[in-house]
Amino acid sequence: MNKRAHNFSAGPCTLPLECLEEAQQEFVNYRNSGMSLIEMSHRGKHFMEVAEQAESLCKEVFEVPDDFSVLFLQGGAILQFSMVPMNLLTPETRAAYVNSGSWARGAIADARQYGDIYVAWDGESCNFTRMPNTKEISLQDNTRYLHITTNETIGGIRFPSWPDVDVPLIGDMSSEYMSRPVDWNKFDLIYGGAQKNLGPAGLCVVFVRKSILENTNKNLGRYLRYDIHESKSSMFNTPPVFAIYMFGKVLKWMRKEGGLSAMQKNAAEKSALLYGTIDQSGGYYRCPVDVACRSHMNVVFRLPNDDLEQQFLKEAAELDLMNLKGHRSVGGCRASIYNAMPFSSVEALSTFMHDFSTRNG
Ligand SMILES: Cc1ncc(COP(=O)(O)O)c(C=O)c1O
Repeated sequence: MNKRAHNFSAGPCTLPLECLEEAQQEFVNYRNSGMSLIEMSHRGKHFMEVAEQAESLCKEVFEVPDDFSVLFLQGGAILQFSMVPMNLLTPETRAAYVNSGSWARGAIADARQYGDIYVAWDGESCNFTRMPNTKEISLQDNTRYLHITTNETIGGIRFPSWPDVDVPLIGDMSSEYMSRPVDWNKFDLIYGGAQKNLGPAGLCVVFVRKSILENTNKNLGRYLRYDIHESKSSMFNTPPVFAIYMFGKVLKWMRKEGGLSAMQKNAAEKSALLYGTIDQSGGYYRCPVDVACRSHMNVVFRLPNDDLEQQFLKEAAELDLMNLKGHRSVGGCRASIYNAMPFSSVEALSTFMHDFSTRNG
């Protein structure tokens, strides 16, 4: 039996055990071919089957309508910070960004290299503890899109509902991918790195509305063009074969577990258990985030002081409750509880939190 820690890492992170075990079994001799899948041509029958299955399964599981294409790219979500404005902006148009925290700031900084960008709502004044509601987002003329980071991994906030604006949305969903349904009518493009809810690092999954591809910028290096990746079915260059293979396994697991609605329900229950533990601690634990915008994936919290936080992390690790330290830029604690995180691990953390506050309160 493999030892499994309670791994609360923000990504790469916990993946479904059965997917890891299946990959382990198949790794050296894939389907009796005498080769590992990662030793084969990406254009051979074995990998083509893997890629086609991953593509159709992700449309099925994420309930993606036919007018969207899915692209399997590399470069992580961060490459999308550049590809989105490079492809979508023209000299006549500008783009709006919601500045919701660390990751949005990165998207804004990169987009500024390529066009006319403005901040349509700035969370700086509330110290990034909430998302805006639609009325607070101010859009200018000739806005091609509004970019949102649907879940801020470091700040622990998410959009409780999708903004209702007159321009297409672009969503960085990296840290809550395939954990809640999307209102596809509102989006032109959604992207995210795989290394949280979907599989290993190395794969970035992009959903793009097909009708916008005719009008994307063609004066770019080929790898940077969405239309080229789409016309080559994500085989323009050698794709990240191992990551796509694992993604396919995670998708099968998601479907077996009940699909998107089950992921959404589990995330609500797991996060409610931790927020409940925080709220019922008599102020011992504090979550700085506006209640309505609390992330269902990244639960951030503080203890009464730095020394107690250090002690908390040390004792947690002794119980195999791992990777609870908050991001280095903000400190505190953070429990990332992505799709594959078992409820029992969240219960173990909740029990420990209760026990620790009772002993050190
Ligand atoms: C919301 C968000 N956007 C972007 C990124 C960067 O993703 P990548 O490392 O895949 O480039 C991350 C990474 O954690 C993230 O959480």
